Amino acid sequence: MKALLFTGVKEPLVYTDVNLPEYDDTFGVVQLNAAALNRRDYWITLGLYPNLRFPSVLGSDGCGVYEGEEVVINPSIHWGNDPRFYSDDYYILGMEEYGTFAEQVAVRKKNIYPKPAHLTAEQAAALPLAGLTAYRVLFSRCQAKAGEKVLISGVGGGVALLACQFAIAIGADVYVTSGSEEKIEKAIALGATGGVNYKDPEGMKILQKAIGGFDVIIDSAGGDGFNQLLKLCNKGARVGVYGGTAGSWNNINVPNVFFRQLSILGSTMGSDAEFGQMLDFVSTHKIVPVVDSVFGLKDGNEAMQMMKESPQFGKIVLRINS
Ligand SMILES: NC(=O)c1ccc[n+]([C@@H]2O[C@H](COP(=O)([O-])OP(=O)(O)OC[C@H]3O[C@@H](n4cnc5c(N)ncnc54)[C@H](OP(=O)(O)O)[C@@H]3O)[C@@H](O)[C@H]2O)c1
Repeated sequence: MKALLFTGVKEPLVYTDVNLPEYDDTFGVVQLNAAALNRRDYWITLGLYPNLRFPSVLGSDGCGVYEGEEVVINPSIHWGNDPRFYSDDYYILGMEEYGTFAEQVAVRKKNIYPKPAHLTAEQAAALPLAGLTAYRVLFSRCQAKAGEKVLISGVGGGVALLACQFAIAIGADVYVTSGSEEKIEKAIALGATGGVNYKDPEGMKILQKAIGGFDVIIDSAGGDGFNQLLKLCNKGARVGVYGGTAGSWNNINVPNVFFRQLSILGSTMGSDAEFGQMLDFVSTHKIVPVVDSVFGLKDGNEAMQMMKESPQFGKIVLRINS
């Protein structure tokens, strides 16, 4: 089969013939129609991820055909039985095991789920990792509810945009931040109430003045801006954190956290049960993941370059077999 091979840190991916690694009869082979990129894939190419193996096939998200049915793949491997956190054996498809930037992938049969019927292959490929992360942080961890004021930071991100769509779907009053006015407008077109540019020092003050405060904030940036987000919290607010793109938290106003009884809730990926719940939620609410760009598998390096520059609103997808 053709695949994009990861051969070394900061090396371009190599489009070449690759054999599937050996697998046993607990695995099934999915013929992939589409795969999607996550920031994780980009971090891996830079060497910013533990336990790297060479050569390997990256890619955690895939949609394809298994036993004649259209399917999507749960990239969470070995979550385990505790819904609160994953087991010591846990990993994500696309590093320890060959991933989805290939014509085929061998995955555990229990990780293969029917594709939501209303989605194309590209849209469905955009869903698994980002959708699972968004579902757990927004609902399982932060318990977001209809009518609550929810702020999603960096809405151009794959997880952030799905969290935005999920929160809109339950009837929350959703605001966003972005480094791009255009992305804020696109989020408003999807149903967000408003948003501000996180690069504008006055933006957060404008938001606070206009809204008062938020009940739920979802963030993957961290960095210096995190303290600004905490200032936007209502009493008893829940702040869901699933990434740290902009680095460590600095100058946190600690009394703000304890006097306002804030909950800062870390979240990573999700359990098998949450993956199933997320797919049901997407099917029930007819949510369509936003696909920004589609590249051919052999053009994976162009897709990775786009991930580096982050101009996208929504997911970057590789079309594999049409
Ligand atoms: N814990 C988990 O399970 C999990 C799962 C997936 C991802 N992650 C992590 O979450 C982060 C996002 O991942 P992703 O795949 O969604 O990435 P992505 O699609 O590449 O999104 C990155 C987005 O981050 C936003 N951003 C960058 N700097 C920011 C800042 N200073 N303040 C606010 N937003 C900022 C930008 O939004 P705008 O374009 O709108 O400016 C950018 O588009 C990464 O750190 C990733 O490693 C964690």
